[in-house]
Amino acid sequence: MYRVAILTASDKGAAGTREDLSGPAAAKIMEEAGYFVVETKILPDERALLSRTMAELCDEGRADLILTTGGTGFSPRDWTPEATLDIGERQVPGFSEAMRAASLAITPRAMLSRGVSVIRKKTLIVNLPGSPKAVQENLEAILPALGHGLDILTGSAGECAR
Ligand code: MTE
Repeated sequence: MYRVAILTASDKGAAGTREDLSGPAAAKIMEEAGYFVVETKILPDERALLSRTMAELCDEGRADLILTTGGTGFSPRDWTPEATLDIGERQVPGFSEAMRAASLAITPRAMLSRGVSVIRKKTLIVNLPGSPKAVQENLEAILPALGHGLDILTGSAGECAR
């Protein structure tokens, strides 16, 4: 059972002035898909804090997967992709490409998400947009390949079965 940490980037959510629905939506979908949610956190849209929190989770081996929600758009406080790239060691463009492709079939606004996916040590980090609807649509796009990617990343599968 892979361990997933869910980090929501939201100034208002962190300040308690707006209820975050995206983190709980991601947690529910992942639990139903057989993942173990080990941590959920709401952080303000602070680039350094976001990257430090993600790096710690990876370096301390506390999660196999980090899903971020929010902060991928165009607003002046949207820095989640940059925070992710600051600490990523290897890029995984396929997950974000698949999410945008699937989402574009639903809404042209999908192209407004600048989300990225990276690997740091043995942890995969995937940025999701911040609405519960977008979280569901984006996760549906990557779930079919996610488990196999984590099998290889964590060393439980050495090669792709033919
Ligand atoms: N992707 C899907 N599948 N469904 C959506 O409704 N919303 C878009 C986009 N991606 C959306 C989506 C919108 S409106 C924005 S502004 C961007 O994600 C960025 O969202 P964020 O700033 O909450 O990260």
